Amino acid sequence: MRIAMIGTGYVGLVSGACFSDFGHDVVCVDKDQSKIDSLKQGIMPIYEPGLDRLVASNVKGGRLSFTTDLQEGVAGAEAIFIAVGTPSRRGDGHADLSYVFGAAREIAEALTGPAVIVTKSTVPVGTGDEVERILREVRPDARAWVVSNPEFLREGAAIEDFKRPDRIVVGIDDEEAAEVMREVYRPLYLNKAPLLFTGRRTAELTKYAANAFLATKITFINEIADLCEIVGADVQDVSRGIGLDNRIGPKFLHAGPGYGGSCFPKDTLALLKTAEDYQTPLRIVESVVTVNEARKRAMGRKVIQALGGDARGAAVALLGLTFKPNTDDMRDAPSLSIVQALQDAGANVRGYDPEGIEQARPLMPDVEFFESPYKAAEGADAVVLVTEWDVLRALDLTRLARTMKQPIFVDLRNVYPPAEVEEAGLRLHSVGRAQRS
Ligand code: UDX
Repeated sequence: MRIAMIGTGYVGLVSGACFSDFGHDVVCVDKDQSKIDSLKQGIMPIYEPGLDRLVASNVKGGRLSFTTDLQEGVAGAEAIFIAVGTPSRRGDGHADLSYVFGAAREIAEALTGPAVIVTKSTVPVGTGDEVERILREVRPDARAWVVSNPEFLREGAAIEDFKRPDRIVVGIDDEEAAEVMREVYRPLYLNKAPLLFTGRRTAELTKYAANAFLATKITFINEIADLCEIVGADVQDVSRGIGLDNRIGPKFLHAGPGYGGSCFPKDTLALLKTAEDYQTPLRIVESVVTVNEARKRAMGRKVIQALGGDARGAAVALLGLTFKPNTDDMRDAPSLSIVQALQDAGANVRGYDPEGIEQARPLMPDVEFFESPYKAAEGADAVVLVTEWDVLRALDLTRLARTMKQPIFVDLRNVYPPAEVEEAGLRLHSVGRAQRS
């Protein structure tokens, strides 16, 4: 089957590469000439484990190609995916849909035969209706259907998530189009992955509801963590204690510095805008957004407290800067708020990250970056573990302690058992556990 993928951002590139790996003939289209040139040379615009190899093998197999020419990409395609960006619109938090509608118009003009046009980008309820309106306006003659098929990929685990999804949600109520979508996902369908067919608006809303629910779960445990610290309980045991209840489930119950990334912050805001537009407030999601924002700032104060309440002139090393491990993505990373709070309080901030330094550099002026966590910690008054990269889960704490000026270790991801940290001669400040004296 021939597939066109419009947009080679995170979602488009991963999805395009995975579809070609399913045996489909995939053309990825992007307006950005330099991106397409790089991709043709096998250079990935993002860091995602396994993606470079997946792209290379499918390009070699002749199933995956790249072009800036949308018309060429769309010609003969039976399924055309829109995977362009939907950034938050400056000022009002609404998703900016100009790229989606622009792509829809160009696709409609370029159609050569029957096709399904599938929105993969995360789009507010009703976007599919507008894409359909554009399609009918531009090409009243075309035999084409507009489908919503949201993605649920986690950065850093996107290929795995694509190939072994918990479910695939497809919003379309036309049987012919549904058949095309079954063909698109055939290997997963044959493997009995749940393929959930719903109305188009339902599919659009499902994506936002899923992300808002996950953001709520994280925010809930983060607030419980604060309470744990005060009452002398341990949040990790609370998480385990509630997560073993099948109705709750153990995932997304790790307390930490607050969620960040390209999806949760943007999607929760966009969902609130939709709720506002339809005058149906989502008060829980409103609280989640407010609490999470406050939490990121509070983490900076936590570090200052660990320093005895005064950070002036203190050297603080942040280990892990990206919003989560296995990505170089700095969007809405908690580290940004922590750096700001520490610098405002007069600290000298240093940073280390396995993949994110180049992305972090322009966002964190006046931070000194190091090539190794040990170098960053040399002479530091405090070390703060912000992102739980594997290399940061396996630190030699004794080595770290030896070169630090003060033995203050703030573990915002609860990676290390308290006894181990203390044995290394460090004073631990963690999340959701009473401070040990
Ligand atoms: C998320 C969704 O998981 C994915 O389905 C959707 O398509 C896009 O948004 P992603 O943003 O890549 O994916 O990362 P995810 O692993 O969900 O983590 C999001 C944030 O939550 C990170 O900042 C992470 O550190 C934080 N988090 C996650 C926690 O603080 N605690 C947890 O228990 C889980």
